[in-house]
Amino acid sequence: MSRFEIIGKAPIRGEISVQGAKNAVLPILAATIMTEEVCVIDNCPYLRDVDKTILVLRGLGSKVMRTDHTITVSDNGYCDCEICETLMRQMRSSIIFLGAILTRCKKAVLSMPGGCPIGQRPIDLHLKALKKLGVKIKEEHGFIYCYADKITGADIHLDFPSVGATENIMLASVMAQGTTTISNAAREPEIKDLANFLNSMGAKITGAGESQIRIEGVCELHGTRYRVMPDRIVAGTYLIAAAITGGDITITDAEPDNMNAICDTLIQMGANLDIGDNKIHIMSADRLKAVEIIRTMPYPGFPTDIQSPFMSLLSVANGTSILVENIFENRFRHVDELVRMGADIKVSGRTAIIKGVDELYGATVRARELRGGAALVLAGLCANGKTIVDNTEYIDRGYERIEECLSKCGAHIKRVN
Ligand code: UD1
Repeated sequence: MSRFEIIGKAPIRGEISVQGAKNAVLPILAATIMTEEVCVIDNCPYLRDVDKTILVLRGLGSKVMRTDHTITVSDNGYCDCEICETLMRQMRSSIIFLGAILTRCKKAVLSMPGGCPIGQRPIDLHLKALKKLGVKIKEEHGFIYCYADKITGADIHLDFPSVGATENIMLASVMAQGTTTISNAAREPEIKDLANFLNSMGAKITGAGESQIRIEGVCELHGTRYRVMPDRIVAGTYLIAAAITGGDITITDAEPDNMNAICDTLIQMGANLDIGDNKIHIMSADRLKAVEIIRTMPYPGFPTDIQSPFMSLLSVANGTSILVENIFENRFRHVDELVRMGADIKVSGRTAIIKGVDELYGATVRARELRGGAALVLAGLCANGKTIVDNTEYIDRGYERIEECLSKCGAHIKRVN
Protein backbone atom coordinates (compact mmCIF):
# COMPACT_ATOMS: atom_id res chain seq x y z
CA MET A 1 0.00 0.00 0.00
CA SER A 2 1.40 3.39 -0.86
CA ARG A 3 0.16 6.97 -0.96
CA PHE A 4 1.11 10.20 -2.66
CA GLU A 5 2.04 13.23 -0.61
CA ILE A 6 1.60 16.44 -2.57
CA ILE A 7 2.40 20.01 -1.62
CA GLY A 8 0.24 22.09 -3.94
CA LYS A 9 0.67 25.34 -5.85
CA ALA A 10 3.84 24.55 -7.84
CA PRO A 11 3.22 25.26 -11.56
CA ILE A 12 3.82 22.26 -13.85
CA ARG A 13 6.42 23.30 -16.44
CA GLY A 14 8.47 21.25 -18.89
CA GLU A 15 7.97 18.35 -21.24
CA ILE A 16 6.29 14.97 -20.79
CA SER A 17 6.46 12.14 -23.30
CA VAL A 18 3.17 10.23 -23.39
CA GLN A 19 3.19 6.52 -22.48
CA GLY A 20 1.60 3.82 -24.63
CA ALA A 21 -2.16 3.45 -24.32
CA LYS A 22 -3.44 1.06 -21.65
CA ASN A 23 -6.70 0.48 -23.49
CA ALA A 24 -4.83 -0.42 -26.69
CA VAL A 25 -2.11 -2.60 -25.20
CA LEU A 26 -4.48 -4.90 -23.29
CA PRO A 27 -6.46 -6.22 -26.32
CA ILE A 28 -3.28 -6.30 -28.43
CA LEU A 29 -1.55 -8.53 -25.87
CA ALA A 30 -4.66 -10.74 -25.74
CA ALA A 31 -4.58 -11.03 -29.55
CA THR A 32 -1.03 -12.46 -29.51
CA ILE A 33 -2.37 -15.88 -28.46
CA MET A 34 -3.98 -16.26 -31.89
CA THR A 35 -0.65 -17.09 -33.55
CA GLU A 36 2.03 -19.64 -32.72
CA GLU A 37 4.65 -17.21 -34.06
CA VAL A 38 6.46 -14.54 -32.07
CA CYS A 39 4.85 -11.11 -31.51
CA VAL A 40 6.93 -8.17 -30.34
CA ILE A 41 4.96 -5.28 -28.90
CA ASP A 42 6.71 -1.94 -28.40
CA ASN A 43 5.66 1.04 -26.29
CA CYS A 44 4.02 -1.09 -23.58
CA PRO A 45 3.62 1.04 -20.46
CA TYR A 46 4.59 -0.22 -17.00
CA LEU A 47 1.13 -0.54 -15.44
CA ARG A 48 -0.53 -2.90 -13.01
CA ASP A 49 -3.08 -3.89 -15.66
CA VAL A 50 -0.31 -4.78 -18.10
CA ASP A 51 1.38 -6.90 -15.39
CA LYS A 52 -1.91 -8.73 -14.81
CA THR A 53 -2.37 -9.27 -18.55
CA ILE A 54 1.11 -10.84 -18.70
CA LEU A 55 0.04 -13.18 -15.87
CA VAL A 56 -3.07 -14.14 -17.85
CA LEU A 57 -0.93 -14.84 -20.94
CA ARG A 58 1.47 -16.99 -18.93
CA GLY A 59 -1.48 -18.80 -17.34
CA LEU A 60 -2.74 -19.63 -20.83
CA GLY A 61 0.66 -21.06 -21.79
CA SER A 62 2.45 -18.22 -23.59
CA LYS A 63 6.09 -17.33 -22.94
CA VAL A 64 6.29 -13.65 -22.15
CA MET A 65 9.47 -11.58 -21.86
CA ARG A 66 9.68 -7.91 -21.03
CA THR A 67 12.65 -5.69 -21.85
CA ASP A 68 12.01 -2.11 -20.92
CA HIS A 69 8.87 -1.07 -22.87
CA THR A 70 8.94 -4.03 -25.24
CA ILE A 71 7.00 -7.22 -24.55
CA THR A 72 7.76 -10.36 -26.56
CA VAL A 73 5.13 -13.08 -26.59
CA SER A 74 5.92 -16.52 -27.95
CA ASP A 75 4.01 -19.72 -27.97
CA ASN A 76 4.72 -22.92 -26.06
CA GLY A 77 2.80 -24.95 -28.64
CA TYR A 78 -0.45 -24.98 -26.70
CA CYS A 79 -3.00 -22.55 -25.33
CA ASP A 80 -5.21 -23.20 -22.33
CA CYS A 81 -8.86 -22.17 -22.75
CA GLU A 82 -9.47 -21.08 -19.17
CA ILE A 83 -8.52 -17.92 -17.27
CA CYS A 84 -8.21 -18.42 -13.53
CA GLU A 85 -10.93 -16.81 -11.48
CA THR A 86 -8.57 -14.77 -9.29
CA LEU A 87 -7.12 -12.96 -12.31
CA MET A 88 -10.58 -12.39 -13.79
CA ARG A 89 -11.64 -10.77 -10.54
CA GLN A 90 -8.51 -8.59 -10.35
CA MET A 91 -8.87 -7.22 -13.86
CA ARG A 92 -12.31 -6.93 -15.37
CA SER A 93 -10.86 -6.21 -18.82
CA SER A 94 -9.62 -9.85 -18.96
CA ILE A 95 -12.98 -10.38 -20.70
CA ILE A 96 -11.14 -9.20 -23.82
CA PHE A 97 -9.39 -12.60 -23.91
CA LEU A 98 -12.71 -14.30 -24.63
CA GLY A 99 -12.71 -13.63 -28.41
CA ALA A 100 -9.00 -14.47 -28.76
CA ILE A 101 -9.24 -17.75 -26.80
CA LEU A 102 -12.27 -18.78 -28.87
CA THR A 103 -10.37 -18.17 -32.10
CA ARG A 104 -7.41 -20.20 -30.84
CA CYS A 105 -9.15 -23.05 -28.96
CA LYS A 106 -12.78 -23.00 -30.17
CA LYS A 107 -13.77 -23.11 -26.51
CA ALA A 108 -13.30 -20.83 -23.52
CA VAL A 109 -14.09 -20.87 -19.81
CA LEU A 110 -14.09 -17.60 -17.91
CA SER A 111 -15.63 -16.52 -14.62
CA MET A 112 -18.20 -13.74 -14.91
CA PRO A 113 -16.35 -10.44 -14.54
CA GLY A 114 -19.11 -8.91 -12.38
CA GLY A 115 -19.43 -5.25 -11.39
CA CYS A 116 -16.65 -2.79 -10.66
CA PRO A 117 -16.36 0.51 -8.78
CA ILE A 118 -17.54 2.62 -11.74
CA GLY A 119 -20.67 0.60 -12.51
CA GLN A 120 -22.29 -2.71 -13.39
CA ARG A 121 -20.37 -3.31 -16.62
CA PRO A 122 -22.48 -6.13 -18.08
CA ILE A 123 -21.20 -8.24 -21.00
CA ASP A 124 -24.55 -9.03 -22.65
CA LEU A 125 -23.52 -7.32 -25.92
CA HIS A 126 -20.33 -9.44 -26.10
CA LEU A 127 -22.25 -12.68 -25.57
CA LYS A 128 -25.11 -11.82 -27.95
CA ALA A 129 -22.60 -11.07 -30.71
CA LEU A 130 -20.60 -14.25 -30.09
CA LYS A 131 -23.82 -16.28 -30.37
CA LYS A 132 -24.38 -14.75 -33.80
CA LEU A 133 -20.94 -16.03 -34.80
CA GLY A 134 -22.07 -19.56 -33.91
CA VAL A 135 -20.63 -19.76 -30.39
CA LYS A 136 -22.72 -21.77 -27.89
CA ILE A 137 -22.72 -20.18 -24.47
CA LYS A 138 -23.76 -21.54 -21.08
CA GLU A 139 -23.67 -19.42 -17.94
CA GLU A 140 -23.53 -21.46 -14.74
CA HIS A 141 -22.36 -20.89 -11.14
CA GLY A 142 -20.68 -17.60 -12.07
CA PHE A 143 -18.79 -19.08 -15.02
CA ILE A 144 -19.26 -18.64 -18.78
CA TYR A 145 -18.66 -21.77 -20.86
CA CYS A 146 -18.24 -21.06 -24.58
CA TYR A 147 -17.88 -23.60 -27.32
CA ALA A 148 -17.92 -23.50 -31.13
CA ASP A 149 -17.48 -26.28 -33.72
CA LYS A 150 -16.66 -23.50 -36.09
CA ILE A 151 -16.96 -19.73 -35.99
CA THR A 152 -18.93 -18.35 -38.92
CA GLY A 153 -18.99 -14.75 -40.11
CA ALA A 154 -22.22 -12.82 -39.44
CA ASP A 155 -23.76 -9.34 -39.63
CA ILE A 156 -23.78 -7.96 -36.12
CA HIS A 157 -25.49 -4.79 -34.97
CA LEU A 158 -24.49 -3.43 -31.58
CA ASP A 159 -27.33 -1.73 -29.66
CA PHE A 160 -24.65 0.44 -28.03
CA PRO A 161 -21.15 1.08 -29.46
CA SER A 162 -19.36 -0.86 -26.70
CA VAL A 163 -15.56 -0.75 -26.94
CA GLY A 164 -15.02 -4.17 -25.37
CA ALA A 165 -17.78 -5.86 -27.41
CA THR A 166 -16.42 -4.39 -30.68
CA GLU A 167 -12.93 -5.70 -29.79
CA ASN A 168 -14.20 -9.14 -28.78
CA ILE A 169 -16.14 -9.48 -32.05
CA MET A 170 -13.04 -8.53 -34.05
CA LEU A 171 -10.94 -11.07 -32.14
CA ALA A 172 -13.53 -13.85 -32.46
CA SER A 173 -14.22 -13.30 -36.16
CA VAL A 174 -10.73 -12.60 -37.51
CA MET A 175 -10.28 -16.27 -38.48
CA ALA A 176 -13.98 -17.09 -38.92
CA GLN A 177 -15.37 -18.73 -42.02
CA GLY A 178 -16.68 -15.91 -44.19
CA THR A 179 -17.14 -12.21 -43.54
CA THR A 180 -18.36 -10.42 -40.43
CA THR A 181 -19.70 -6.90 -40.33
CA ILE A 182 -20.22 -4.84 -37.20
CA SER A 183 -22.64 -1.93 -37.43
CA ASN A 184 -22.81 0.75 -34.74
CA ALA A 185 -19.28 -0.33 -33.79
CA ALA A 186 -17.32 1.69 -31.23
CA ARG A 187 -15.09 4.24 -32.99
CA GLU A 188 -12.47 4.73 -30.26
CA PRO A 189 -8.90 5.10 -31.62
CA GLU A 190 -7.89 2.00 -29.61
CA ILE A 191 -10.21 -0.07 -31.85
CA LYS A 192 -8.29 1.17 -34.86
CA ASP A 193 -5.00 0.34 -33.14
CA LEU A 194 -6.18 -3.23 -32.48
CA ALA A 195 -7.29 -3.57 -36.12
CA ASN A 196 -3.93 -2.23 -37.34
CA PHE A 197 -2.16 -4.77 -35.13
CA LEU A 198 -4.35 -7.63 -36.37
CA ASN A 199 -3.85 -6.54 -39.98
CA SER A 200 -0.09 -6.59 -39.38
CA MET A 201 -0.59 -10.26 -38.36
CA GLY A 202 -2.35 -10.96 -41.66
CA ALA A 203 -5.98 -10.16 -40.78
CA LYS A 204 -8.31 -8.43 -43.25
CA ILE A 205 -10.14 -5.75 -41.34
CA THR A 206 -11.44 -2.53 -42.87
CA GLY A 207 -13.45 0.35 -41.45
CA ALA A 208 -12.05 0.24 -37.89
CA GLY A 209 -12.41 3.68 -36.34
CA GLU A 210 -15.74 4.09 -38.17
CA SER A 211 -19.14 2.72 -37.19
CA GLN A 212 -19.16 0.00 -39.85
CA ILE A 213 -16.34 -2.56 -39.59
CA ARG A 214 -15.80 -5.43 -42.02
CA ILE A 215 -13.73 -8.48 -41.08
CA GLU A 216 -12.95 -11.03 -43.76
CA GLY A 217 -11.96 -14.28 -42.07
CA VAL A 218 -8.42 -15.49 -42.86
CA CYS A 219 -6.97 -19.00 -42.43
CA GLU A 220 -4.05 -18.02 -40.23
CA LEU A 221 -2.30 -15.18 -38.49
CA HIS A 222 1.45 -14.75 -38.26
CA GLY A 223 3.88 -13.10 -35.87
CA THR A 224 4.54 -9.38 -36.09
CA ARG A 225 6.21 -6.36 -34.49
CA TYR A 226 3.95 -3.47 -33.54
CA ARG A 227 4.13 -0.18 -31.65
CA VAL A 228 1.19 0.65 -29.38
CA MET A 229 -0.46 4.07 -29.88
CA PRO A 230 -0.01 6.85 -27.29
CA ASP A 231 -2.46 7.15 -24.40
CA ARG A 232 -4.85 10.02 -25.09
CA ILE A 233 -6.30 9.97 -21.56
CA VAL A 234 -2.88 10.17 -19.91
CA ALA A 235 -1.93 12.98 -22.31
CA GLY A 236 -5.16 14.78 -21.36
CA THR A 237 -4.43 14.32 -17.65
CA TYR A 238 -1.01 16.02 -17.99
CA LEU A 239 -2.52 18.89 -19.99
CA ILE A 240 -4.95 19.40 -17.11
CA ALA A 241 -2.04 19.26 -14.63
CA ALA A 242 -0.55 22.28 -16.38
CA ALA A 243 -3.93 24.02 -16.71
CA ILE A 244 -4.84 23.56 -13.04
CA THR A 245 -1.50 24.93 -11.78
CA GLY A 246 -1.18 27.84 -14.21
CA GLY A 247 1.72 26.03 -15.81
CA ASP A 248 3.21 25.51 -19.22
CA ILE A 249 4.06 22.09 -20.64
CA THR A 250 4.63 20.29 -23.92
CA ILE A 251 3.23 16.81 -24.32
CA THR A 252 5.31 14.85 -26.83
CA ASP A 253 4.74 11.51 -28.60
CA ALA A 254 1.01 12.22 -28.57
CA GLU A 255 -1.66 11.87 -31.25
CA PRO A 256 -3.54 15.17 -31.01
CA ASP A 257 -6.00 14.07 -33.74
CA ASN A 258 -7.47 11.64 -31.20
CA MET A 259 -7.85 14.35 -28.58
CA ASN A 260 -10.15 16.92 -30.18
CA ALA A 261 -12.83 16.82 -27.47
CA ILE A 262 -10.21 17.26 -24.73
CA CYS A 263 -8.28 20.05 -26.49
CA ASP A 264 -11.45 21.91 -27.55
CA THR A 265 -12.74 21.93 -23.97
CA LEU A 266 -9.43 23.29 -22.64
CA ILE A 267 -9.45 26.02 -25.31
CA GLN A 268 -13.07 26.85 -24.49
CA MET A 269 -12.01 27.28 -20.84
CA GLY A 270 -9.38 29.80 -21.89
CA ALA A 271 -6.17 27.74 -22.02
CA ASN A 272 -3.72 28.47 -24.85
CA LEU A 273 -2.92 25.38 -26.88
CA ASP A 274 -0.42 25.04 -29.66
CA ILE A 275 -1.12 21.74 -31.41
CA GLY A 276 1.50 20.11 -33.64
CA ASP A 277 1.63 16.78 -35.47
CA ASN A 278 2.53 14.74 -32.43
CA LYS A 279 2.82 17.26 -29.65
CA ILE A 280 0.68 19.72 -27.73
CA HIS A 281 1.94 22.77 -25.89
CA ILE A 282 -0.35 24.23 -23.24
CA MET A 283 0.02 27.55 -21.45
CA SER A 284 -2.43 28.61 -18.86
CA ALA A 285 -1.43 31.60 -16.79
CA ASP A 286 -4.87 32.83 -15.73
CA ARG A 287 -7.74 31.20 -13.90
CA LEU A 288 -9.78 29.25 -16.46
CA LYS A 289 -13.49 29.77 -17.18
CA ALA A 290 -16.25 27.30 -16.33
CA VAL A 291 -17.94 25.41 -19.17
CA GLU A 292 -21.68 25.47 -19.56
CA ILE A 293 -22.08 21.71 -19.97
CA ILE A 294 -19.92 18.65 -20.69
CA ARG A 295 -21.59 15.36 -21.59
CA THR A 296 -19.54 12.17 -21.77
CA MET A 297 -20.24 10.24 -24.99
CA PRO A 298 -18.74 7.43 -27.04
CA TYR A 299 -15.84 8.58 -29.26
CA PRO A 300 -15.54 11.11 -30.87
CA GLY A 301 -17.55 12.61 -28.00
CA PHE A 302 -16.08 13.71 -24.68
CA PRO A 303 -14.38 10.63 -23.12
CA THR A 304 -15.79 9.30 -19.86
CA ASP A 305 -12.22 8.46 -18.79
CA ILE A 306 -11.22 12.13 -18.62
CA GLN A 307 -14.43 13.27 -16.90
CA SER A 308 -13.06 13.08 -13.36
CA PRO A 309 -9.71 14.80 -14.13
CA PHE A 310 -11.73 17.62 -15.75
CA MET A 311 -13.94 17.84 -12.69
CA SER A 312 -10.90 18.81 -10.61
CA LEU A 313 -10.14 21.59 -13.08
CA LEU A 314 -13.77 22.78 -13.13
CA SER A 315 -13.72 22.85 -9.30
CA VAL A 316 -11.37 25.84 -9.41
CA ALA A 317 -12.64 27.45 -12.63
CA ASN A 318 -14.39 30.80 -12.66
CA GLY A 319 -18.15 30.10 -12.69
CA THR A 320 -20.48 27.11 -12.62
CA SER A 321 -20.16 24.05 -14.85
CA ILE A 322 -22.39 21.04 -15.44
CA LEU A 323 -20.99 17.58 -16.11
CA VAL A 324 -23.26 14.76 -17.30
CA GLU A 325 -21.89 11.19 -17.16
CA ASN A 326 -23.68 9.17 -19.84
CA ILE A 327 -21.47 6.07 -20.05
CA PHE A 328 -21.01 4.63 -16.55
CA GLU A 329 -23.60 5.00 -13.80
CA ASN A 330 -21.21 5.25 -10.85
CA ARG A 331 -18.41 7.47 -12.00
CA PHE A 332 -18.70 10.27 -9.44
CA ARG A 333 -16.94 8.44 -6.60
CA HIS A 334 -14.23 11.10 -6.48
CA VAL A 335 -16.75 13.87 -5.72
CA ASP A 336 -16.90 13.33 -1.93
CA GLU A 337 -13.11 13.48 -1.81
CA LEU A 338 -12.97 16.70 -3.86
CA VAL A 339 -15.59 18.18 -1.52
CA ARG A 340 -13.28 17.31 1.42
CA MET A 341 -10.72 19.51 -0.33
CA GLY A 342 -13.16 22.42 -0.47
CA ALA A 343 -14.81 21.86 -3.88
CA ASP A 344 -18.46 22.90 -4.26
CA ILE A 345 -20.08 20.01 -6.17
CA LYS A 346 -23.65 18.74 -6.06
CA VAL A 347 -24.56 15.45 -7.69
CA SER A 348 -28.01 14.39 -8.78
CA GLY A 349 -28.10 11.05 -10.60
CA ARG A 350 -25.74 11.28 -13.55
CA THR A 351 -25.35 15.08 -13.34
CA ALA A 352 -22.81 17.03 -11.31
CA ILE A 353 -23.05 20.78 -10.80
CA ILE A 354 -19.68 22.29 -10.04
CA LYS A 355 -19.40 25.82 -8.67
CA GLY A 356 -15.80 26.91 -9.09
CA VAL A 357 -14.16 27.93 -5.79
CA ASP A 358 -11.20 30.31 -5.43
CA GLU A 359 -9.02 27.65 -3.90
CA LEU A 360 -8.93 24.00 -2.83
CA TYR A 361 -7.12 23.05 0.36
CA GLY A 362 -5.00 20.03 1.10
CA ALA A 363 -6.63 17.04 2.83
CA THR A 364 -6.26 13.29 3.19
CA VAL A 365 -8.29 11.66 0.44
CA ARG A 366 -8.70 8.17 -0.97
CA ALA A 367 -8.56 6.98 -4.57
CA ARG A 368 -11.43 4.56 -5.23
CA GLU A 369 -10.79 3.90 -8.91
CA LEU A 370 -8.24 4.79 -11.58
CA ARG A 371 -9.40 8.07 -13.16
CA GLY A 372 -11.02 9.37 -9.98
CA GLY A 373 -7.64 8.78 -8.30
CA ALA A 374 -5.87 10.82 -10.98
CA ALA A 375 -8.42 13.59 -10.40
CA LEU A 376 -7.39 13.73 -6.73
CA VAL A 377 -3.71 14.02 -7.66
CA LEU A 378 -4.60 16.96 -9.95
CA ALA A 379 -6.62 18.59 -7.17
CA GLY A 380 -3.64 18.13 -4.81
CA LEU A 381 -1.34 19.87 -7.31
CA CYS A 382 -3.34 23.10 -7.11
CA ALA A 383 -4.50 22.88 -3.47
CA ASN A 384 -3.21 25.07 -0.69
CA GLY A 385 -1.08 22.93 1.64
CA LYS A 386 -0.49 19.19 1.82
CA THR A 387 -2.70 16.56 0.19
CA ILE A 388 -2.36 12.85 0.84
CA VAL A 389 -3.87 10.54 -1.78
CA ASP A 390 -4.27 7.02 -0.40
CA ASN A 391 -4.66 3.86 -2.51
CA THR A 392 -2.19 4.73 -5.26
CA GLU A 393 -2.53 1.19 -6.64
CA TYR A 394 -5.65 2.33 -8.47
CA ILE A 395 -3.72 5.12 -10.15
CA ASP A 396 -0.89 2.72 -11.02
CA ARG A 397 -3.37 0.72 -13.10
CA GLY A 398 -3.31 3.41 -15.77
CA TYR A 399 -0.47 5.89 -15.19
CA GLU A 400 3.19 4.90 -15.46
CA ARG A 401 5.11 6.52 -12.58
CA ILE A 402 2.82 9.55 -12.51
CA GLU A 403 4.75 11.06 -9.59
CA GLU A 404 8.05 10.98 -11.55
CA CYS A 405 6.50 12.59 -14.64
CA LEU A 406 4.98 15.36 -12.52
CA SER A 407 7.93 16.00 -10.20
CA LYS A 408 10.25 16.26 -13.20
CA CYS A 409 8.04 19.19 -14.23
CA GLY A 410 8.20 20.94 -10.88
CA ALA A 411 5.42 19.30 -8.87
CA HIS A 412 6.07 18.56 -5.19
CA ILE A 413 4.80 15.00 -5.12
CA LYS A 414 6.32 11.88 -3.63
CA ARG A 415 5.26 8.29 -3.16
CA VAL A 416 5.36 7.03 0.41
CA ASN A 417 5.13 3.30 1.05
C1 UD1 B 1 -13.57 0.60 -22.31
C2 UD1 B 1 -12.33 1.16 -21.65
C3 UD1 B 1 -12.70 2.13 -20.55
C4 UD1 B 1 -13.62 3.22 -21.09
C5 UD1 B 1 -14.81 2.60 -21.82
C6 UD1 B 1 -15.68 3.64 -22.50
C7 UD1 B 1 -10.75 -0.66 -21.89
C8 UD1 B 1 -9.91 -1.71 -21.22
N1 UD1 B 1 -11.57 0.05 -21.09
O1 UD1 B 1 -14.29 -0.12 -21.33
O2 UD1 B 1 -11.51 2.72 -20.04
O3 UD1 B 1 -14.09 3.99 -20.01
O4 UD1 B 1 -14.35 1.69 -22.82
O5 UD1 B 1 -14.93 4.43 -23.35
O6 UD1 B 1 -10.63 -0.44 -23.08
N2 UD1 B 1 -22.27 -2.21 -21.85
C9 UD1 B 1 -23.38 -3.03 -21.78
N3 UD1 B 1 -23.27 -4.32 -22.20
C10 UD1 B 1 -22.09 -4.81 -22.71
C11 UD1 B 1 -20.97 -3.98 -22.78
C12 UD1 B 1 -21.08 -2.67 -22.34
O7 UD1 B 1 -24.45 -2.61 -21.33
O8 UD1 B 1 -22.06 -5.99 -23.08
C13 UD1 B 1 -22.37 -0.81 -21.37
C14 UD1 B 1 -21.47 -0.56 -20.14
O9 UD1 B 1 -22.11 -0.93 -18.94
C15 UD1 B 1 -21.24 0.91 -20.23
C16 UD1 B 1 -21.21 1.18 -21.73
O10 UD1 B 1 -21.84 0.06 -22.34
O11 UD1 B 1 -22.31 1.61 -19.67
C17 UD1 B 1 -19.81 1.35 -22.29
O12 UD1 B 1 -19.05 0.19 -22.05
P1 UD1 B 1 -17.87 -0.28 -23.02
O13 UD1 B 1 -17.75 0.66 -24.17
O14 UD1 B 1 -18.06 -1.71 -23.28
O15 UD1 B 1 -16.61 -0.08 -22.08
P2 UD1 B 1 -15.45 -1.12 -21.78
O16 UD1 B 1 -15.06 -1.82 -23.01
O17 UD1 B 1 -15.81 -1.94 -20.59
